[in-house]
Amino acid sequence: MTMSPLDQLERKIADRSVVVGVVGLGYVGLPLASALHSGGARVIGFDVDPAKITAFTERKNYLKHLGDEMFAELAASDRFDVTTDFVRLGEADVVIVCVPTPLREDRSPNLSYVTDTARAIGTTLRPGQLIVLESTTYPGTTRREFLGAITESASVHGQSLRSGENFLVAFSPEREDPGRKSHATATIPKLVGGLDDRATRVACDLYRIGIREVIPVSSAEVAEAAKILENVYRAVNIALVNEMKLILSDMDIDVFEVVRAAATKPFGFQPFYPGPGLGGHCIPIDPYYLAHRAKEVGREARFIELAGEINHAMPAYVVDKCMNALQTRGVAPDRARVLVLGLAYKPDIDDVRESPSFELIELLREKGSHADYSDPFIKATWKMRRYNLGLKSVELTPDSVASYDAVIISTNHTAFDYEMLAEHARLVVDTRDAMRIYESRMGDRLIRA
Ligand SMILES: NC(=O)c1ccc[n+]([C@@H]2O[C@H](COP(=O)([O-])OP(=O)(O)OC[C@H]3O[C@@H](n4cnc5c(N)ncnc54)[C@H](O)[C@@H]3O)[C@@H](O)[C@H]2O)c1
Repeated sequence: MTMSPLDQLERKIADRSVVVGVVGLGYVGLPLASALHSGGARVIGFDVDPAKITAFTERKNYLKHLGDEMFAELAASDRFDVTTDFVRLGEADVVIVCVPTPLREDRSPNLSYVTDTARAIGTTLRPGQLIVLESTTYPGTTRREFLGAITESASVHGQSLRSGENFLVAFSPEREDPGRKSHATATIPKLVGGLDDRATRVACDLYRIGIREVIPVSSAEVAEAAKILENVYRAVNIALVNEMKLILSDMDIDVFEVVRAAATKPFGFQPFYPGPGLGGHCIPIDPYYLAHRAKEVGREARFIELAGEINHAMPAYVVDKCMNALQTRGVAPDRARVLVLGLAYKPDIDDVRESPSFELIELLREKGSHADYSDPFIKATWKMRRYNLGLKSVELTPDSVASYDAVIISTNHTAFDYEMLAEHARLVVDTRDAMRIYESRMGDRLIRA
């Protein structure tokens, strides 16, 4: 008896002969490709950016935090291939989509990367394929926009296939946290929700090739909403401690000590720490995806809007505190030279997406101050969608540090020499509690913001 294409897909997953296409070889797609490859699958990486493909042919790792070894292993493997040729999507039994889901200028979701990819998948769709969306998005996207674009494009190309009958579709949110040492793609539990039961089951089996714990949920919508909840939870809790920081600072109470004290409670409290604003691809962006969908069903996402407002106000608060401290030292804003430490949005990685450090520099310039930055991971800035700072990283030496009126610690990279800062900086504005052990030595040369 001949096997159906979907039965064949299940057999290939079981015996590891499955070919997996990963679309979008960025912070999410590349480690996922590596995890599935390590589990024994053959992987084809797809990207619209030819530089990613060249990086593999020239063996130049473009995501340092993943380690050169992982990159070299993939580049050398005969079970791994990269391409910009999307016609080859037809070769893949499974296609996993990890493309960006940014916001438009008006903070509405920009799903164009997802729908463009879905249309490309549709052009080569064949019976027996499993298609999984990983990009973070609002509940309903996989069933409406993603599947809609796939089937529409497939029918234009003469294929009239139905999800659940000839091919399968699922959503599985990515929970990547670049730079975190305690977890990697293979050890972060993976949620999977299909558009039907078979899609859930087959997608779970597929992910088990490279991921230790896979958790099925009852639908794609539950998986989509769970991811958004995780990120809204972080955005709201960070806003809460940022607001606590403003209140407690006016009472001369140290918010970091307060959070750490509260965290000694063994249940019912999870610590979040204040900072100079929100950064990264996820927390500043994803909640607005839910807010958009909430509006469509006639609800207001009030927590999300308020958290956004509070978190977005942080860079201005930090700059104002810095300017006030300088003015009491007789340095006028338009004569001040300020060095911002850390351009990446979090410690020990080179990811600058949505980093509040850019806004700090922009706000300092608006005050008329001269602003520079130092970041061992980012040697120079480049032209971005919103910012074009035209700066090079300043090397941190006793002389360079002493030449600035103030140093703002925006990102607490481990590589910074904090003792040297304590010794030589005229004023340190610490947004990360990085200078606590030097507090008594620094006296009024240290302020928190
Ligand atoms: N970075 C994270 O830590 C993280 C964590 C969880 C979830 N996510 C989500 O995962 C998704 C991907 O994020 P990322 O951080 O990997 O982004 P990224 O920018 O690092 O990578 C995206 C990649 O997709 C490529 N690309 C863009 N359009 C494409 C297209 N039409 N076809 C093929 N490739 C295309 C880009 O060239 C890039 O290499 C987003 O939805 C994001 O919200 C990211």
